[in-house]
Amino acid sequence: MTRILDVRGLSKGFDMHHLGTHMAAFSDISLTLDAGEFLLLKGRNGAGKSTLLRTLYRSYLAAKGEILFHSSHGVIDLARAADVDVTHLRRTEIGFVTQFLTARPRVSAEALVAEPLRLAGHDAGDALERARHWLAAFGVKPALWPAYPTTFSGGEQQKVNLARALILPQRLLLLDEPTASLDASARAALIDRLAELKRHGTAMVGVFHHPGDVATLIDREIDLTPDAPQKEIRDDVAV
Ligand SMILES: Nc1ncnc2c1ncn2[C@@H]1O[C@H](COP(=O)(O)OP(=O)(O)O)[C@@H](O)[C@H]1O
Ligand SMILES: [Mg+2]
Repeated sequence: MTRILDVRGLSKGFDMHHLGTHMAAFSDISLTLDAGEFLLLKGRNGAGKSTLLRTLYRSYLAAKGEILFHSSHGVIDLARAADVDVTHLRRTEIGFVTQFLTARPRVSAEALVAEPLRLAGHDAGDALERARHWLAAFGVKPALWPAYPTTFSGGEQQKVNLARALILPQRLLLLDEPTASLDASARAALIDRLAELKRHGTAMVGVFHHPGDVATLIDREIDLTPDAPQKEIRDDVAV
């Protein structure tokens, strides 16, 4: 099996400057993830799930510990990597999916979705064609493809966001409640896409509002609620 992630002794907290205190978000987390494995993060509100995902994505700097990512160029510790390397990996190997679209003025839905492919060096025509395929798959109507998502409804923006976030297969995909308030058909399209990416070897760490949605994909669970028992779902995943 191909190892993707070795996390060792990872801790993160926040200084509450206005209170003069320090609050731990999570501490001493260790986990491993192989290609094609799906790890479900659980825990009550405020348990640190989003903070852990953001720390793995290096939006937050870890206080302690290692995040050894097995990139296509070798192993790199994301807790210590240079910003320029993190930026490059985010473009090519590590994806982050939330329910929120970062729309930009005067950038059409189809251009926004095609962008990750274009940045990865794909031909513009091919990128546009695949962008339209994924917009259709997530249920964005064709009339909206050349329009600007800044004016779209919340649900339409979410679908554009998913198309963009999942168009390019990544080595590691981090998911923070991407299905929250998504309609049933878009949720089904998302699960199909995640299953397909998993079969192709994408390793995933995700938080899901309704974990039942992804029940068939889950290999392991970690509960960030302090003192929660940990559960192995399967250990026979062949990749
Ligand atoms: N940027 C931040 N500054 C200070 N505290 C934060 C910050 N981000 C998250 N927290 C706190 O860390 C804890 C964990 O938050 P979060 O990771 O969002 O929880 P979850 O996603 O599990 O609901 C919460 O108590 C939250 O208030
Ligand atoms: Mg959260």
